[in-house]
Parts: sequence; C-alpha cells; structure tokens
Amino acid sequence: MQGIQNRSIGVFDSGLGGLTVVKELRREMPHESIVYFGDIARLPYGIKSKEQILNFSIQNTLFLLKQKVKAIVVACNSSSSAAYHFLRDHFGIPIIDVIMPAVEAAACVTHTGRVGLIATHATVASQAYERSLRKINPNLRIFSRACSLFVPVVEEGWLEDPITEQIVRRYLGGLRHKNIDTLILGCTHYPMLKASIRKVLGPRVQLIDSARPSVKKLKSILIRQGLVSKSKRKGELRVFVSDMPRNFKQVGEKFLGEKLHKVQIVRGF
Ligand code: DGL
Repeated sequence: MQGIQNRSIGVFDSGLGGLTVVKELRREMPHESIVYFGDIARLPYGIKSKEQILNFSIQNTLFLLKQKVKAIVVACNSSSSAAYHFLRDHFGIPIIDVIMPAVEAAACVTHTGRVGLIATHATVASQAYERSLRKINPNLRIFSRACSLFVPVVEEGWLEDPITEQIVRRYLGGLRHKNIDTLILGCTHYPMLKASIRKVLGPRVQLIDSARPSVKKLKSILIRQGLVSKSKRKGELRVFVSDMPRNFKQVGEKFLGEKLHKVQIVRGF
C-alpha cells in the first residue's frame, strides 16, 4: 500500500490563478505530487455570496479528498475568506488557507503599521484579513479596496499594458494617500499585475504575495506531521478543471510558469 507521505497535495481555486501557488509549491517541494482543481465553470467566486462560495469550496474539497490527497491548500482568497474555518474544522487532513500566511508576512515587514489590502468584493466584504491582522497585532491599520476589473484584465493577458496601468491607477489612487508601506495582494490573479502595481504605488510599498508564505506554512505542517514525500523523483502534477474555456492553456501556463499537461475535465460542478 502507498504510504500516506507519497499521496499528493491538493490545491483548489475558482480558476487557474491558484496555479501561482502550485508554481511555488513545485519550487519549494519538488518531490511532492500535486492534484489541482480549478472550478472554471463557476468562476468568478469573488462576486458571489458567502453561502455560495462555502458550498463550492466544500464540493471542491470533497473532490480532492476523492483523489486521496494528504493535505489541501485553499489557494483562492475568496474561498479562504468564506470557507477556511469550516473546512479546517470538518475535514480530517491539514488544510491551509492563503490569508493568515499573507497577514503574518505583512505584519513582519511593515514599519509604519499601515497595510493595504486589494482583493475581490467577497474577500473585502468578509473582513477576514482585518480579523487576522487584528489577531496578530491590534495596532496595525488596514486599508482595503475591491478591484473588480483586475481578474478579467489578467485573464485577457494584459499584464503590462497602458490600459492595465490606467485601471490599476484608478483603483489604487486612493491608497496612495493612505501612506501604506505594505500591500497584500489578496487575490490569486493580482501577483500577475505586480509590475503595474509597483509603477503606481512606487518602490517603497512592499507587495505581499500569499503563495510563498502559504507554501512555507504547508511545508512546516507536513514536516511536523511526518507527511513529507519520501520520493526522490520530481512530483507529478495532475490538473482537473470543471470547464475548459478558449484561452485556458495560455492563461494557465502563464500562472504556472511551465507547460500544462494532463488536464482533465470533471463534469457535474
Ligand atoms: N480566485 C479568486 C480569488 O483569489 C479570484 C477569481 C474569482 O473571483 O473567482 O479571490
């Protein structure tokens, strides 16, 4: 029988943005196999109600559990904000969100205690980041903005386009006057807009991308629980999606930073 250590790590997102977390996972833990589920058929989550996102997240978790994963990363910020506590409390394997790790990283680097957050409407409305920041350091101040157009812009592939810069400027203009020194990129897609965000906010604002701290947290949990893969070979990556739109491969490979092989459609989502 296969040892539990050699089971895959499950990662899910509303779409393909969570592949940025997979990219980091493959860099940090190359021997781990990964099963990714992107719920493209029901994307976007970021404009839906908490109840709906919770339902979707439970279904995604059940799908990954059927693939016999040993741990799950909730790579979607909207899911992390609406469903993480429920998932953590109801399923018997390690489940990692992307919010607390990002908040811990932000709390470490801020000097002024003034932290910006950009995310989807669902994530901003949930106030999950505020609650997590307050737990770590109640003196930190957080300034949030929902940036609805960022996801479609990234999906369109306009990463460093004058239009993108204009859109970024429009959303982040207000934050420039808040004297933040740290900005949490609280959505899977936003790390792809780092160049434009840097141009608008300037080099003094540190950008926090949740992929790295989340993967570090997962790694420490796997080590602590004796769940690290014993394999010496490069881990496999299997990608499942609930739909395969036109530009799926192109967008996915941008997030992942490598070729997408072995993609399967799962119906019924
Ligand atoms: N994955 C979502 C998030 O991180 C962004 C896309 C969506 O709205 O579904 O919030």
